[in-house]
Amino acid sequence: MSTIMQWVHLIAAVVGLGGMGFLLLVLIPSLGVLDMEQREAISKAVTGRFRWISWSAIILLVLSGLYNIRRYYWEEPWGPAWKLLALKILLSFALFGIVFGLTIPLKIFERMRARRQTWLLVAFIVGVVVVLISAYLRRG
Ligand code: HEM
Repeated sequence: MSTIMQWVHLIAAVVGLGGMGFLLLVLIPSLGVLDMEQREAISKAVTGRFRWISWSAIILLVLSGLYNIRRYYWEEPWGPAWKLLALKILLSFALFGIVFGLTIPLKIFERMRARRQTWLLVAFIVGVVVVLISAYLRRG
């Protein structure tokens, strides 16, 4: 079971973070070849698809992450590993918040969506730091 949960956690992280990296580094910089109308159409379609992909990844990350905590940390006393894990979870939730702001079609997030490339960059960098902390926790 723990192998399956580790696999789920990794696949969700790869698809979620990889998807953000693709949008940021490949798709958005390539939109310049389209005219305004086409750009808007593709942005709308991509946001609709990315919404379900990213939300599914978040649900899987949280569920498999909670399983990992129960399995590997629950019996551990409070210490450096727990503190680093708490930081990782805090950063993950900040990242999830950005993803929700960019993908929930509500008016209050409009200003955030107007600067989506900047927010995607922030979320991507936070994600890379989360992976670094996770790798350290794994080996540490
Ligand atoms: C952006 C979100 C996240 C990413 C990119 C991420 C990524 C990773 C990666 C790459 C690993 C190492 C897996 C391995 O080598 O086996 C890992 C382990 C782990 N993750 Fe996450 N994770 C995320 C969110 C979460 C959340 C929300 C939780 C808790 C609710 C969580 C709890 C854990 C735990 C407990 C481990 C095991 C650490 C250890 O081996 O000591 N993760 N995560």
